[in-house]
Amino acid sequence: MIAIDGPAASGKSAVGVAVAGRLGFRFFDTGAMYRAVTWLALRRNVDVHDEAAVAALVEAATITVRETDPGSAEATAVLVDGDDATPHLRDPEVEANVSLVSRVPGVRRALVLIQRALAAEGGVVMAGRDIGTVVLPDADCKIYLDASREVRAERRRRQIVDAGGEADYNSLLADLERRDGIDSSRKTSPLTAAPGAVIINTDSLNIDEVVERIVELAT
Ligand code: C5P
Repeated sequence: MIAIDGPAASGKSAVGVAVAGRLGFRFFDTGAMYRAVTWLALRRNVDVHDEAAVAALVEAATITVRETDPGSAEATAVLVDGDDATPHLRDPEVEANVSLVSRVPGVRRALVLIQRALAAEGGVVMAGRDIGTVVLPDADCKIYLDASREVRAERRRRQIVDAGGEADYNSLLADLERRDGIDSSRKTSPLTAAPGAVIINTDSLNIDEVVERIVELAT
């Protein structure tokens, strides 16, 4: 089991998919699950500040997670009560609200159970914020990917532009700052490097270099 944690846009998914490919492992992006629950809450008009209502929503929902085909825009597909949330995971309203939904303890409890079940057979790379600390504390290899906020915002901007979209660097930077702040300061499972995690700063590394480093560490 390989756990990859780190802040928003630190490259966890791109790196995780490639590491899994090299090792013949499965890859799961747990951020997709928190995004899917956020999409559900918005769709059902549940106030994301109402923690009890959000927790009740998740407890009643059936959440199914699977890997997508190689090269898909999202590495992890999420179905909620049979509806495919995957095309909506990057919607601006989801992006704006996901950190509020993911700080609800009841949401985390439900999703961590699913994540542990996905990893139970082993042969898995899992990316998120609390994989090494909470979800898979016994993971064989724990990585914390970091990069400066400016580098992350620029990578995100390029990703959006390369996909044919429009992106404003300053608003991406502000959004990263806001999400990192909420994710790092929440009471339940805040973003932090797990004890024993190898911290890799990717400011001056490309994806292949990071993948190589992790494969070396893991094998
Ligand atoms: O990784 P990604 O940016 O898609 O994650 C979206 C949000 O989901 C994060 O900002 C965080 O609030 C939440 N998240 C979390 N725990 C995880 C994965 C994601 O709280 N394991």
